[in-house]
Amino acid sequence: MRLRDALDPSDSSAPAEIRVMATLVDLAAIGADLFLLYAQEAICRHGTFTVALAGGSTPRRLYRKLAESDHVRSMWDKMHLFWGDERHVAPDHPDSNYRMACEALRINRTVPAAQVHRIPAEDSDPRRAALSYERSLCEFFHLGVGQWPRFDLMLLGLGADGHLASLFPESPALREHERLVIADWRADRAAYRITLTLPVFNAAASILFLVSGTEKAQALQQTLEGAYHPESCPAQLIRPPRGRVLWLVDAGAASLLHQWDQL
Ligand code: 6PG
Repeated sequence: MRLRDALDPSDSSAPAEIRVMATLVDLAAIGADLFLLYAQEAICRHGTFTVALAGGSTPRRLYRKLAESDHVRSMWDKMHLFWGDERHVAPDHPDSNYRMACEALRINRTVPAAQVHRIPAEDSDPRRAALSYERSLCEFFHLGVGQWPRFDLMLLGLGADGHLASLFPESPALREHERLVIADWRADRAAYRITLTLPVFNAAASILFLVSGTEKAQALQQTLEGAYHPESCPAQLIRPPRGRVLWLVDAGAASLLHQWDQL
C-alpha cells in the first residue's frame, strides 16, 4: 500500500510506502525477507552490505529470524553492522542496544569482529563516545569534509512519543546538521543517548521502519497522516532524497491509519 504523501508536500523525494502485517510475527518474517533482499542488492552492487541496526524491542524477533536464516548466514562475511543509536551504558548492560542485537543475531558467532562497529557507549564521557563513533564512520566510509555516510540500510523503530533512534520530539538534536553522531541528554530518562543525526539517516539508500503495537498507533497516524509538524513528529523529517522508505507495521500500530491506496 502506497501512502498518499501526507508529509511535507514541498518535498520531492519518493513517498513512503507502508505494509500492514497482521502480527509482529508476520512483520519479523517480512522484515527478514526484505533485509535479505537489501543485502543481496548491496552485495551485488558493491560487494558489501552496511546496515545500521535499530534498538528497542521490536527488532528482536526480526534479528532472531535473521540468525536462523541460511541465506543470511552465507552473507555475514560481507556485512558490516552499525547501530543507529545507543543508550549510555556498557555493552553488557541489559539496556544496551548492542547487547540486544548481539544476543538475538548471535553476532559473536556469525559476524567477524572487525565487521561489528558498535557505539563505544561505555565511555564515561558520552560526547567523547559520539565523537569516536563519528570518526569511525568517517574512516570506514572514507568521508571528506561535509560528506555523509551512505548506509545500504537503516533499521528504525518509532517510539510511542514519535521518536526514532534517539531523536526525540522538540529536541535540539533534530536541528543538528553538521555532526554525524551526537550525545543528547534526556532529562526524562536522566541519561544520555548517543545517536546518528538526521542527515546520516537521510543519506541512506533504504530505510525500513519496524513499528508494532497499539501504543504506537497515535504516533504513527500523526506521523504519516497528520499535519506536517516535524518538531513533534521527527519521523516526518526522514525523507532521503536518494533513498526509499518502507514502513512495516502490524495491525495494532496501524489501527488509527485510514488513508492509503491499496496497491
Ligand atoms: C532505542 C531505539 C528506539 C526504539 C523505539 C521503539 O534505543 O530504544 O533506538 O528509537 O526504536 O523506542 O522501541 P520498541 O521497538 O521497543 O517499541
